[in-house]
Amino acid sequence: MCGIIGYAGHRPAVPLIVEGLRRLEYRGYDSAGVATVQNKEIDLVRAEGKLAALDEKLSHINVTNSTFGVGHTRWATHGVPVEKNAHPHLDHDKNIAMIHNGIIENYQEIKAELVTKGYEFRSDTDSEVLVNLIAEGRKHNDTMLKAVSWALNQVEGAYAIALVAVDEPGTVYAARVSSPMVMGVGVGENFVASDIPAFLPYTRKVVFIEDGELVKITSSSWEVFRAENLAPVEKEVQTINWDVQAAQKGGHKHFMIKEIFEQPKVISDCLAGRININSSTDIGEVVLPEISAMEPPERLHIIACGTSYHAGLWGKYLIEQWAKIPVDVEIASEFRYRDPLLSKGSLALAISQSGETADTLAGIKLAKQKGLPILGLCNVVGSSVARESDYIMYTQAGPEISVASTKAMCSQLTALLLLALYWGKRKGVLDEETYSRAVQDLRNLPSILDAELPAMRARAKELSREYSEANSFFYLGRGQYFPLALEGALKLKEISYIHAEGYAAGEMKHGPIALIDPKFPTFAMALKDELFPKVKSNLVEVQARGGEIIALTNPGVELDVEHRWILPEVWGPLNAFMALPALQLFAYETADYLGKDVDQPRNLAKSVTVE
Ligand code: F6R
Repeated sequence: MCGIIGYAGHRPAVPLIVEGLRRLEYRGYDSAGVATVQNKEIDLVRAEGKLAALDEKLSHINVTNSTFGVGHTRWATHGVPVEKNAHPHLDHDKNIAMIHNGIIENYQEIKAELVTKGYEFRSDTDSEVLVNLIAEGRKHNDTMLKAVSWALNQVEGAYAIALVAVDEPGTVYAARVSSPMVMGVGVGENFVASDIPAFLPYTRKVVFIEDGELVKITSSSWEVFRAENLAPVEKEVQTINWDVQAAQKGGHKHFMIKEIFEQPKVISDCLAGRININSSTDIGEVVLPEISAMEPPERLHIIACGTSYHAGLWGKYLIEQWAKIPVDVEIASEFRYRDPLLSKGSLALAISQSGETADTLAGIKLAKQKGLPILGLCNVVGSSVARESDYIMYTQAGPEISVASTKAMCSQLTALLLLALYWGKRKGVLDEETYSRAVQDLRNLPSILDAELPAMRARAKELSREYSEANSFFYLGRGQYFPLALEGALKLKEISYIHAEGYAAGEMKHGPIALIDPKFPTFAMALKDELFPKVKSNLVEVQARGGEIIALTNPGVELDVEHRWILPEVWGPLNAFMALPALQLFAYETADYLGKDVDQPRNLAKSVTVE
């Protein structure tokens, strides 16, 4: 949540920072701001609303040519999203400009103390308290580096901060605890940011900043210290293989539709290096070097939030069926506050696209305290989940920019399927026929999906026109399609703001069916599998109450509903990979038709780094 960027280099900082913020805007979009220093004065420009409002404001003023500065795009936690609460925040004497992502938990005590020393506050934020504490620190320390360390030693909570100060032109300081931060190492310029896309056009060389580290960058140097005692820290510069194009819309109207259409490639990329083909038999074998040193667990606890949680629910079906490992799937925000009974021999599997979700990280911490090893399934290389895990499997989906997660789930399903196959084989509990069929058909899946996506989109468009007036939707499914029903409902509500409930189809008659009337449509997952006859009778019950039905189904399935949406049939669980984009496309086309802000839905932000 919140996007931050700090720059020290040779280019005019304001346009570069605003461009960087544009690539981070998915992290928050309540307000935005930028600060640079010129002639010993801070130049601060902030605006309420999306980045476009800041752009508009900047177009009417002469901005400085300063070549260092900080910028922020906000997702409000403390203080309503108005300009005075927008970042950067200045200290009382306007010598320091600071941006902050996260929450300072003890800000009230610190504020009370600072007020007694004569500090006045202009905003309602916890962030302004921290910048003033740093200013106070500057009075007791001879360098800004020491002042920042002095202040950070007193705060509790989560933060990623970056700041510039009038008495140190050309320098940006940054630090983090439990909020993401990465440094970009360029030629004659250096960057800090919440996420790599912010500086991707300028460098692919990155240094991942760890909790408790404090960074000092100038155009020609970068140094990392332990914030508590300023001990220097050796860091490794890594080169990431994301390209700039992957973080741009590439001619699509929205990131979301681009990412939906990337799913065939996402499956191939996730499989890359994980299926070894035996040239004599042409049968592939799943190899997962990331976890080869680990015995298959006796029990698995999946910890995740939102869409990643839905992926976990889906994975449970396969891991239990193929690998005969009992699986509990836990909503991370619940798990972290329980006293779960975690037996020896169990493994915690944390699923997270961003790798920065606060609840998932807290779940990892708890599982660790209870002695469980952690396997992270994560998209963002070097993220907190990756670093907190004992074993890490990357989903290799590339940058996901749309706030509504799509391709990340597809990659998570692929990885979970590989895990089920791998453990099933290693334990010797999965029959050879299922194993080789799954591997074979997985390899063919990307091309089948790729060919089908344009037709799916056309069908989604058609149906979205007919149902865009609906106030509510049910999404129903059984077996592996129940988690997909939850996901379909989540996608629709988060981007189109139409109320939607995902249900296990068999649960309808235990209460929810009371809601059905001719204006309350149902989106049914009625694909061909052994549970189809059960789904069919649930749908008859819905129809008997006058409810209209859109049914995702396969050729040759007999079903008398208002709208049959026929998807090509693939093998067994792989049908989920066909159904998922259909659900995403229906939500997308509905939201777009209704004129909603698809990539940046209201009240949401990508990467939920606060509780
Ligand atoms: C929904 C969505 C969220 C995320 C959730 C977990 O479209 O994006 O529900 O899935 O916030 O995020 P990660 O996977 O980054 O931990």
